[in-house]
Amino acid sequence: MSRLKELRKYVDAELNKMEDEEKRNSAIVHLYGVSLAATMIANKRGMNWEIASMAAMLHDLYAYKTGSYDDHAHKGAELADEILKELKLTDEAETEMICSAIYHHDDKLVTDSPMDEVLKDADVIHHCMNDMSKDIKEKEQARFDKLCKEFGM
Ligand SMILES: [Fe+2]
Ligand SMILES: [Fe+2]
Repeated sequence: MSRLKELRKYVDAELNKMEDEEKRNSAIVHLYGVSLAATMIANKRGMNWEIASMAAMLHDLYAYKTGSYDDHAHKGAELADEILKELKLTDEAETEMICSAIYHHDDKLVTDSPMDEVLKDADVIHHCMNDMSKDIKEKEQARFDKLCKEFGM
């Protein structure tokens, strides 16, 4: 089984514990949607798509598990670190890269490391394109415009 598939199996089991069906469905759609977008963006930029995709699968898990978005990026990075150490799918450098991306993913107005930026951009792509009839959040507009240019949209 691929590392990504193994991680997804773990995440699926965690999400299945969510009692609210609507919230559970949107959690699944979001994590898999951001994972696909992260793979696409990482590929386009010549970066490690597998690490990007794994970071995406974990990036909001803390919020879904606890029901709270309060400091969810920083707390989510801690949770991801625990999960990755338990699953032993990644080496130390990979775990660090994934956790850094999750730690910074809510800081959409600043630029961080290239892998951090892949996750932020993938999150924005999903927020903005999962339902294009919805208004784009002000803090995501500039990043979305830049992505549209990069991808010729
Ligand atoms: Fe988030
Ligand atoms: Fe997200």
